[in-house]
Amino acid sequence: MFKKEVYVERRKKLQAEMNCGLVLLPANTESPMNYLANTYHFRQDSTFLYFFGLNLPNLVGVVDIDSGEELIYGNDINLDDIIWMGPQPKLTDTCANVGIAKTKPLASLDEAVKKAILESRQIHFLAPYRAERKLQLENLLGINHANIANYVSEELINAVVKLRSVKDDCEVIEMENTITNVTCKMYDAALKAITAGKYEREISGLMEGISMQHGGTVAYPVILSVNGETLHNHYHGNKMQNGDLLLIDAGAESTMSYATDITRTFPVSGKFTQKQREIYEIVLRAETECIEAMRPGVLNRDIHLKAAQIIATGLKEIGLMKGNVEEAVKAGAHAMFFPHGLGHMIGLDVHDMEDIGENYVGYNAETIRAEQFGLAYLRMGRRLEKGFVLTVEPGIYFIPALIDKWRADGKFMEYINYEKVDEYKDFGGIRIEDDVLVTEDGYRILGKNIPKTVEEIEAAMAR
Ligand code: GLY
Repeated sequence: MFKKEVYVERRKKLQAEMNCGLVLLPANTESPMNYLANTYHFRQDSTFLYFFGLNLPNLVGVVDIDSGEELIYGNDINLDDIIWMGPQPKLTDTCANVGIAKTKPLASLDEAVKKAILESRQIHFLAPYRAERKLQLENLLGINHANIANYVSEELINAVVKLRSVKDDCEVIEMENTITNVTCKMYDAALKAITAGKYEREISGLMEGISMQHGGTVAYPVILSVNGETLHNHYHGNKMQNGDLLLIDAGAESTMSYATDITRTFPVSGKFTQKQREIYEIVLRAETECIEAMRPGVLNRDIHLKAAQIIATGLKEIGLMKGNVEEAVKAGAHAMFFPHGLGHMIGLDVHDMEDIGENYVGYNAETIRAEQFGLAYLRMGRRLEKGFVLTVEPGIYFIPALIDKWRADGKFMEYINYEKVDEYKDFGGIRIEDDVLVTEDGYRILGKNIPKTVEEIEAAMAR
């Protein structure tokens, strides 16, 4: 965990953002895989981690905005637990490390919440994303679990988004070190191991293993496929062949649960074909120029549209699109090739704070989310601020089902050269992604460079 003062300061800021009432911030519980005692890897709730820093299940953090009291509800482990899990520090000592002086047994939370309800005090909580949390809130608040989402506190959401969006220096260092010391190593190992005849799972397993060797795990299930046109392809059972492109979207999660999220696309043979290189260079130009456009005050939606413009221009140059590029982008024709958003906030979550509500994180009164196919998937449209960390991840994909549908519907015939697109239907997809900090007057790509240009990739694979 970070030093105690980091958590004390964060809770102080939370108190300053809120008017009154009781803020409930539950930790996650263990989640059973196939029977109660056989659990999935424990992943703490990110907002709990942000304010309380403790990576333990079955706790609830409470901040009383009216009295200023901050406490943790939880239980010390008993002798049975010690027999199975070994000795553990006392809860009060652990809590003292994050500046919490007072703990109470978990069972007493119910009474405290019921008392607050009787006194008509506001109880603030965030949207639950796990069934266990829904039931916990149902029991505490007396609201049917199916209706909990209607009672979440917008005041708390806005406060959390405001605080978590701007990363502390210690958070940036944590993410940057994880890219340099772990995610880079995952990619170095992949670059050395990719060979025709191996299965994709040999590369994904290798990368995931490296993340675990460094004390963390992966920040999200590894996306790795010779069918890169499937945006989130988790099937790793294909045998790689020369001529294939292998799209890898993988990032280590730090020991303190900070995410990293990097994508590269490599030729299995070690050399891009001319056709692959042409598409690759367009995506690379989009990524590089969009990163260069990042600075405080710029609308991220405009940077997304810049990527769309670069992609449409490049595709027109090689005959896959036609007509007026600006009009094509405005109409959304490029989205057949680039159907997702340019990127998202990243921090304790790979899609940071998405559990709280995507639109609270990425949009505001000034920047309403679009409904147009493609642009609607942009998670982060609002103006950039110093301290934001975002992914920048343009891509070009040839998705046969989408191409066939649009063609059958006669969609954008004036902007898409479907005859030429036919020649690319077995191409796959290319995405390139880095994690970028918005600085005072520009940007900084986090971490050591992972081979990205055609020359860097071919040289790394030749070694
Ligand atoms: N890189 C995985 C994702 O953005 O969902």
